[in-house]
Amino acid sequence: MAEIAEPTLGSLSTQLEAQVQLAAEFIRQGKLVAMPTETVYGLAADAKNEKAVQKIFEVKGRPATNPLIVHLADLSHILEWVTLMPETAVILAKRFWPGALTLVLPKHPSVPDIVTGGQQTIAIRIPNHPLALALLQAVDTGLAAPSANRYGHISPTLAQHVEADLGTRIDYILDGGACDIGIESTIVSCVSDIPVILREGSITRAEIAETLGLSVTALKASDPVIDPADLSSTLKMPGSDHSHYAPSKPLYLLDTNLILEKLPLLIEQKAQLGLLCISTSITRYCTDNFLKHFNFIWASMPCDPKEYARTLYEKLRSLDQTDAEILLIETPPQTSEWAAIHDRLWRASQKKSLF
Ligand code: TXA
Ligand code: MG
Repeated sequence: MAEIAEPTLGSLSTQLEAQVQLAAEFIRQGKLVAMPTETVYGLAADAKNEKAVQKIFEVKGRPATNPLIVHLADLSHILEWVTLMPETAVILAKRFWPGALTLVLPKHPSVPDIVTGGQQTIAIRIPNHPLALALLQAVDTGLAAPSANRYGHISPTLAQHVEADLGTRIDYILDGGACDIGIESTIVSCVSDIPVILREGSITRAEIAETLGLSVTALKASDPVIDPADLSSTLKMPGSDHSHYAPSKPLYLLDTNLILEKLPLLIEQKAQLGLLCISTSITRYCTDNFLKHFNFIWASMPCDPKEYARTLYEKLRSLDQTDAEILLIETPPQTSEWAAIHDRLWRASQKKSLF
């Protein structure tokens, strides 16, 4: 039997190619299209069309001061979007693009201010997804695209998530199936001499530092800091709003021992719980003690950080739709490869203790 190849750029099936062309036509008409990327789904508009970009903010309910990432097909027209590619940016772009890396660079004056929330810097990414790249080539311009969710809600990793959040308010969803990475890109500001990681992602601080041969600072979501790379800016770090990446139910991060200690109490109080756990000790405990007796929903998560990231948002959305009143998440290991996941869980969680 002939092998069926994964679609790659230039070899999309006729059906997918037709869908890309339809999506491109919507973009040319100034409409909004949800597009799959390897990280999460983006809500795309022509970045040079101010009215179309304005619609992104309206549809998401996103404050106009929160800048958007501009997605490009390749580096060939980068100097229409940025005034300068510092050497650090060139090195990172060569190593990680197309991929889950967003670079913050000095904005070209021809880019509408609405895209960058009035800032003089612009976030750029070349995504690594055949449908996103095909759409970008078809429209032959940059696409401004935040994650395709209501503002503050969990980012979508399936077309169905976009449909549930924004389906009635957008023109087209290009369905690329499940996103491979599952959490948003790593954002690195390259506007000052020393690059700063503004948002952690699947490309780790260690990989950035190793590529540049420099030690690199990562801003922590738990520090209420201003972007040090842009001292004139009052912008907080990306996604630092308290409700960011959050389900609608209260979510608490708890260490393994605390879960084991407090779970019986919570269950006796008849709290309806949803639990995401990693460690086998909790999994075993849940199976042995509770599953059969209580209305208690739990899921065991992968122990590998990349696999955990791939399924995290889908699991959070599913738990959010159950009867659970409180969501508990077992704190993942404190090692560096879990940094981006800690960041997202912290942003999604209640900033106070459950006990
Ligand atoms: O993986 C991703 O990055 C996805 C996919 C669709 O590309 N996009 C995404 O976009 O997560 P969004 O808008 O949900 O998050 C982008 C973050 C925002 O928190 C925004 O504040 C920050 O990037 N950002 C955009 N432009 C910036 C700039 N010029 N300086 C600092 N932060 C910026
Ligand atoms: Mg977002």
